[in-house]
Amino acid sequence: QDKRESLYVLSSWAGKFFKEQMWTTEVGQSIGLSYFKERGYREDIVKKFELGYSPDQWTALSDAAAAAGFHKDYLSLIGLSIEREDGSLYDRFRGRVIFPIHNLTGRVIGFGGRTLKTEKSVPKYVNSPESDIYHKSDVLYGLNFAKKAIMDKDSCYLVEGYADVISMHQAGVENVVSSSGTSLTTGQIKLIGRFTQNVVILYDGDAAGIKASLRGTDMLLEEGLNVKVLLFPDGNDPDSYVQSFGSTAFKEYIDTNQQDFIFYKTNILLKDAGADPIKRAEVIREVVQSIALIPDEIKVSVFIKQCSALLDMEERVLLTELNKMRLNKA
Ligand code: UTP
Ligand code: MN
Ligand code: MN
Ligand code: MN
Ligand code: MN
Repeated sequence: QDKRESLYVLSSWAGKFFKEQMWTTEVGQSIGLSYFKERGYREDIVKKFELGYSPDQWTALSDAAAAAGFHKDYLSLIGLSIEREDGSLYDRFRGRVIFPIHNLTGRVIGFGGRTLKTEKSVPKYVNSPESDIYHKSDVLYGLNFAKKAIMDKDSCYLVEGYADVISMHQAGVENVVSSSGTSLTTGQIKLIGRFTQNVVILYDGDAAGIKASLRGTDMLLEEGLNVKVLLFPDGNDPDSYVQSFGSTAFKEYIDTNQQDFIFYKTNILLKDAGADPIKRAEVIREVVQSIALIPDEIKVSVFIKQCSALLDMEERVLLTELNKMRLNKA
């Protein structure tokens, strides 16, 4: 417990270090802060999310932490520093803009660092590893800032990335979280379920986003949550949409284009199936498979009715299929 408290203190110190580097050094301002400004982030939002900058040096943070009296074991434990063979340390985050990750009570537990380079060979984001204070599968980025809005609206937007959460806040949509750095987990879903039963998936409009939205839908349904989905057009994500088209257009877009999961999934699959009867049968099976995950029988029968209308298939047939699937799973 003492050890975890020390890790919290170190994390918080590192968060301050990255902020100071950005706001009070010339390089930090001209590279870090101007990066965020060019992305369209307002200064109040940069401050609210405690964004920062890590100097493009091998040991800036490790040295400063040692000077501040932190033991090097803790720096490695939390992944701020990486230990070389000879026992010396170098910084994990170098020359990157920094997104601190907070827990539910607002304490810093980890960081995401985005490269400023455009080369494809450089990983876009580097993230803190798992540690005693950062269990990735139980953390949602932005939840500490979002929890009140989620309860007020009784709904939660789920996005892919850090930047999406931040731009949506700037647009005035604050009930938003991201599973940043991991694919969605059951632990993260249970966490959302403490605040609302209603989730709207807003993933990137690309192949990876579609795939992740279908997987996420099934996981959310299985936990008993209500799911709507919306994909952004032409490779956009929530952040790029807000920044290109503005807050008003963004809000209108998400209000008018979110679909109940059953319409969303059916439409996506039918697009690929065309008129081919065998492929259509496969679509029906896949949609019923998602319905079969829902624990609430009343919802199940509502969705079976909708599915029957959507796909022009008798309810009785769908129910038989659904029961077969459940038997096979049990
Ligand atoms: P994206 O590739 O969609 O990035 O990954 P993004 O959030 O739109 O990033 P920007 O707008 O270019 O800055 C979505 C999320 O997946 C994680 C990050 O959390 C990111 O926000 N990710 C992505 C990584 O952890 N590592 C990567 O190399 C890329
Ligand atoms: Mn845990
Ligand atoms: Mn993406
Ligand atoms: Mn994205
Ligand atoms: Mn993006």
